[in-house]
Amino acid sequence: MFNRLKDCYNTNDFRSLAKQRLPSPIFHYIDGAADDEITLKQNTRAFEKCDLIPNVLRGVKDIDTSVSLMGKKINLPLFFSPTALQRLFHYDGERAVANVAEKFGTFFGISSLATVSIEEIGENYSCPKIFQLYVHKDKGLNDSMIENCKENNFDAIAITVDTIVGGNRERDLRTGFTSPPKLNLKSFLSFATHPNWSLNYLFREKFELPQLQDYVQEGTNITISIGDYFNTMLDQNMNWDSIAEINKKWGKHLCLKGIMSVEDAMKAVDVGASAIMVSNHGGRQLDGSCSPFDQLSDIVDAVGDKIDVICDGGIRRGSHILKALSVGAKACSGGRMYLYALAAAGEAGVERAMRLLQEEIERNMKLMGCKSVKDLGRHNLKFR
Ligand code: GLV
Repeated sequence: MFNRLKDCYNTNDFRSLAKQRLPSPIFHYIDGAADDEITLKQNTRAFEKCDLIPNVLRGVKDIDTSVSLMGKKINLPLFFSPTALQRLFHYDGERAVANVAEKFGTFFGISSLATVSIEEIGENYSCPKIFQLYVHKDKGLNDSMIENCKENNFDAIAITVDTIVGGNRERDLRTGFTSPPKLNLKSFLSFATHPNWSLNYLFREKFELPQLQDYVQEGTNITISIGDYFNTMLDQNMNWDSIAEINKKWGKHLCLKGIMSVEDAMKAVDVGASAIMVSNHGGRQLDGSCSPFDQLSDIVDAVGDKIDVICDGGIRRGSHILKALSVGAKACSGGRMYLYALAAAGEAGVERAMRLLQEEIERNMKLMGCKSVKDLGRHNLKFR
């Protein structure tokens, strides 16, 4: 039983604490995935099919874990994937995560479905910032988000390309999870038995989705499941021309989040993207999809010298990050790896989760005989 933050040493520990702290619909929204959740599991298991081969006696007292990503130097080869609705997980939400990104000198992202505004993040944080754009049917909404990112000095936009329809998230169907959360017979007991969460939700700052609410009622004034939001609000006609058009309007670093095939990675280069997140949305969309780590080498071989390749998904340990970097990823990112910690203990939780991962990266680099991320390569991997 994990009662305290100081008992948490890894992602699973944070997950256990988050499970205690959150009403079940909220916990299962973070924890769950599509259909049979095979891809969710596979995303982490994929790292176990390959082993690290260490070198020794390399004088590793001082090491450099920094990498360069979309034109920015970051202190760690790891950053926070933008994720939606964070103030449901802890009342400090995105602000807690941004503070930690600032401390660690890494990228921080907010979603189109964030609970803080682009303006607030642009004004208050100097760390590199990425905005996750969900391309809506409402072009006015898309343009307003792009303009706001420009005006508020965001460094990159990541267009989500893997939510053309909502994944079949059966846990959300069973718990009745919606945004904003709704109290019904099913969920009442769960909210009543988590009074801390419920009181914070009711009496702290009102739940809002500032990017959306001038354009759509759903998600703020009208309750809706995330699956239905994707199905009804997003542009199912989005194609490569839409990406080119957005790139022209935006004019800065563009990342595509949710690329899994070599063919699409090559198209991302052609359309002028500067990065791709190899990602299956944490297994929340297409169950049965390949894992990012399993696809990484083919994608790096095809486009790794033209574009920054980010391995997003399944990361639970520093050793996973070293494996992805060895294959040729520029950096790794993840959602659940910090969301459980956010739910468990707010900013202190996210900071502890990031500190533990940073320590794992540093310790493992030394054990691998690497002074810098550049020393990692396929020579230090053995696939089973
Ligand atoms: C949002 O991006 C989600 O996966 O629920």
